Amino acid sequence: MRVLVTGHRGYLGTVMVPVLQQAGHDVIGLDNGYFADCVLGPAPRDPADIRTDLRDITGDQLAGFDAVIHLAALSNDPLGSLDPLLTYDINHHAATRLARLARDAGVARFLYASTCSVYGAAGDGLVTEDAPLRPLTPYAESKVRVEDDVAELADADFTPVFLRNATAFGFSPRLRADIVLNNLVGHAVLTGDVRVLSDGTPWRPLVHARDIAAAFSTCLTAPADVVTARAYNVGTEANNLTVAEIAGAVVDAVSGSRLVITGENGPDPRSYRVDFARARNELGFVADWSIPAGATELHQAYTAYGLTDSDFAQRFTRLPQLQRLRDAGLVDARLRVARAQIPAIP
Ligand SMILES: NC(=O)c1ccc[n+]([C@@H]2O[C@H](COP(=O)([O-])OP(=O)(O)OC[C@H]3O[C@@H](n4cnc5c(N)ncnc54)[C@H](O)[C@@H]3O)[C@@H](O)[C@H]2O)c1
Repeated sequence: MRVLVTGHRGYLGTVMVPVLQQAGHDVIGLDNGYFADCVLGPAPRDPADIRTDLRDITGDQLAGFDAVIHLAALSNDPLGSLDPLLTYDINHHAATRLARLARDAGVARFLYASTCSVYGAAGDGLVTEDAPLRPLTPYAESKVRVEDDVAELADADFTPVFLRNATAFGFSPRLRADIVLNNLVGHAVLTGDVRVLSDGTPWRPLVHARDIAAAFSTCLTAPADVVTARAYNVGTEANNLTVAEIAGAVVDAVSGSRLVITGENGPDPRSYRVDFARARNELGFVADWSIPAGATELHQAYTAYGLTDSDFAQRFTRLPQLQRLRDAGLVDARLRVARAQIPAIP
């Protein structure tokens, strides 16, 4: 299939593109490059791409694709809360517009990167895809709105699918330090402390970036009548852990590190345990990566590639990286890129 992957130069996209290529797909990217040079280790081989802001894509640019995988977004809660209107602009309006243009251009399949955080404060029970959605942040709310709007576009020729990913972990050449396991392993390697800023009790479902890539690859070719306008939780029940349990796995993986639960951020209302049976039963999808395996992988990568304090806190953390781009005049207040390509900031 000829597949357009938006956000291909992000954390998940950089892992997903080779997985799709190995499955035989012809992949083209679309990304405005906020994190293009935020690389740890050898530089990834990016595919050919369309260099445009998502908000400016045209129907002509979408003609000829069999599928669109839509990852590009302001992609976590802190970023989403920076400027909620901007979050809705990029994450909701531009995403819905992309889906409509894709359908009108004859693209048959649209895979959307949603999130398990649409469930919000869900308590201790396992939530299925049919649970009420209680988004707690503009980021999560934007994901709900896209699912609602794009589901309405489904017809015999257009198959949208919503993949509600658990919180990702694992090594990507375009690393992110602002997701829980990657963050805790980084602190352990850099300081010897595994610092938990909440009280450690919230539940978090986790999934490896490569498992997410495999789920998208599976959904590209799954029967349209099964998956159309359907939501799938992506992860595994084995990785529904409390933050304190995740931290414990990090202490085990990074020898000499110690657990510090500061509680300084107070209670965290975002807590949910997720049921992943639908993807197992309908798609045959099983997420393989465990938390201990992911913590060990990250420890090895951080050590081998020489992770530094400043890169960890800045280039690999989304909010400060975007603030650096703004301060350097490389993006404007609406996060539009000022030049054809964002140069590396020293
Ligand atoms: N990482 C996670 O834990 C996780 C969990 C659930 C869902 N998701 C979703 O998966 C998707 C990818 O996440 P990620 O972790 O790779 O995020 P990321 O921030 O690493 O990458 C997003 C990419 O989108 C690009 N982008 C953003 N706005 C754009 C615009 N206006 N025009 C063109 N490109 C733009 C950025 O340059 C970046 O490369 C997102 O939609 C995110 O919400 C991520």
